[in-house]
Amino acid sequence: MRVNFTVNGRKQEADDVWEGESLLYVLRERMGLPGSKNACEQGECGSCTVRLDGVPVCSCLVAAGQAEGREIVTVEGLADYAKHRDDEHPGGGCAGGGCGTSLDAAKRWQAMPHDSQSGEQGTELSPIQQAFIDAGAVQCGFCTPGLLVAADEMLEHTPSPTDADIREALSGNLCRCTGYEKILDAVRLAAARQDEVV
Ligand code: FES
Ligand code: FES
Repeated sequence: MRVNFTVNGRKQEADDVWEGESLLYVLRERMGLPGSKNACEQGECGSCTVRLDGVPVCSCLVAAGQAEGREIVTVEGLADYAKHRDDEHPGGGCAGGGCGTSLDAAKRWQAMPHDSQSGEQGTELSPIQQAFIDAGAVQCGFCTPGLLVAADEMLEHTPSPTDADIREALSGNLCRCTGYEKILDAVRLAAARQDEVV
C-alpha cells in the first residue's frame, strides 16, 4: 500500500508498505531518516519516539498505515519545528505541508552547534538540543533523539516544569549511559533559557 503523510512539515509518500510495517521502519529504511533509533522495537525504551499529530509515540509500535494523512515530526525536523513554533506558528508546529524540513535536508542534517571557540556557525539547533550538549547529557547518544522529541514536547506544553513534570514526561525513555541526572539538568537548562526569552 501507499502511505501519504507529512514528515517534518512536508508532504511525503511511501510505496509498497506492507500491513505489518512499523512507522519506525518506514522512517528509517524508506525515508532515509535514521535519527529515530530502533533499540527494543517493543515500546520499552523510547529511543524511537516521534510526534504523531503532536503526540509523542513509540514509532516502533505504530503501524505505518496508521500514519496515513497524519503529521510526523522526527528528530531531524526538531530544529525547524522549534523555530517555526516560535516564529511563525506560535502554539503550533510547522506541520501542514507549507513549510518545514525537506527530506533531503533532513537526511543531510547533522548536529553542528555554534563553536564558541572558533566562532564558526554550524547548523542551528533547537533549544533542547543545545541544552543537551551544554549540560553534557549525551554519551553514546542512542537514547538522545527520543529524549529530545519527548522533552521538546513537554516544554511546549509545560514551559516551567517541575522535576516531577520532567520525570513524568521522560519516564518512557531509557538511557543506559548517563544515569539521567545530566538529562534532567539539560531539560532544566532549556526551561530556564525559555523563561529568559519570555
Ligand atoms: S525501539 Fe521503540 S520503544 Fe524501543
Ligand atoms: S543510552 Fe547512551 S546516552 Fe543514553
